Amino acid sequence: MTKKVAVISGGTSGIGKKMVSMFLKAGVKVVTFSSSKSKVNLLKRELREYSEDLICYQGDVSSQRDIARISTNVKKHFKKVNYLVNNSGTNVLNPISKIKAKDWKRIIDVNLTGVFYLTQSMLTLLKKDSVILNMGSLASRSGFPNWSAYCASKFGLKGFTEALREEMRPKQVRVVHAEIGATDTAIWNNLDGKWDRSGMMNDAEVAHILFDSITKVKSVNVDEIFLMPPNGII
Ligand SMILES: NC(=O)c1ccc[n+]([C@@H]2O[C@H](COP(=O)([O-])OP(=O)(O)OC[C@H]3O[C@@H](n4cnc5c(N)ncnc54)[C@H](OP(=O)(O)O)[C@@H]3O)[C@@H](O)[C@H]2O)c1
Repeated sequence: MTKKVAVISGGTSGIGKKMVSMFLKAGVKVVTFSSSKSKVNLLKRELREYSEDLICYQGDVSSQRDIARISTNVKKHFKKVNYLVNNSGTNVLNPISKIKAKDWKRIIDVNLTGVFYLTQSMLTLLKKDSVILNMGSLASRSGFPNWSAYCASKFGLKGFTEALREEMRPKQVRVVHAEIGATDTAIWNNLDGKWDRSGMMNDAEVAHILFDSITKVKSVNVDEIFLMPPNGII
């Protein structure tokens, strides 16, 4: 039987990396990419036992050229993508008065426009019973001071996801939106402020729930997933 295929953006760290491992362990072939060559190489080394099933590229999700290169390669290898996980994400915190235009653009380009580029490039490979998972946030439903660019990108992603879901219904492709609260990953390393990392969710546990929600059911579309740390907002 031909193996299923998952395309996961940003699979070199955090929640995406845990999902890459889960798919591989389940016998699914994985294509992933991220912008840092060293992270891509580290992932390849760490998962070398799965080298037959894992394809890793260096690529920036906000670059149309990189996405065109990656999707051309995916189309050479595979006729169908069973799972598309739009996971790449970035953030910079600042009050609106201080946000640099380049940081604003970067966050929107990676978290929102990049999802459009990758999804559009994969459309012909997304067929009956394929699933798209888009990684939103608590910041897809609530605003927080200093988080305006990130909130704008994630609120925008939610709108994109809801429209995508309706467009994909006739093709019987399911579209899932995950709104995730604070999870202890590298995304917090460079964010100004004091964060209680011990109160955050564990990335493997979050990945596990997401993985089960998209792989274990067929007659159910999990339209929305909302995951929060037991103690609430950090
Ligand atoms: N952790 C949380 O508390 C939390 C909460 C809600 C939602 N989320 C969302 O969950 C997703 C995963 O985040 P995480 O927490 O696991 O963070 P993470 O550990 O920092 O992982 C982010 C991944 O995205 C990749 N990435 C960043 N910029 C990219 C670009 N321009 N092109 C391609 N890949 C890029 C990173 O690799 P490179 O650096 O090599 O590019 C990395 O592999 C994100 O969409 C994030 O917004 C996280």
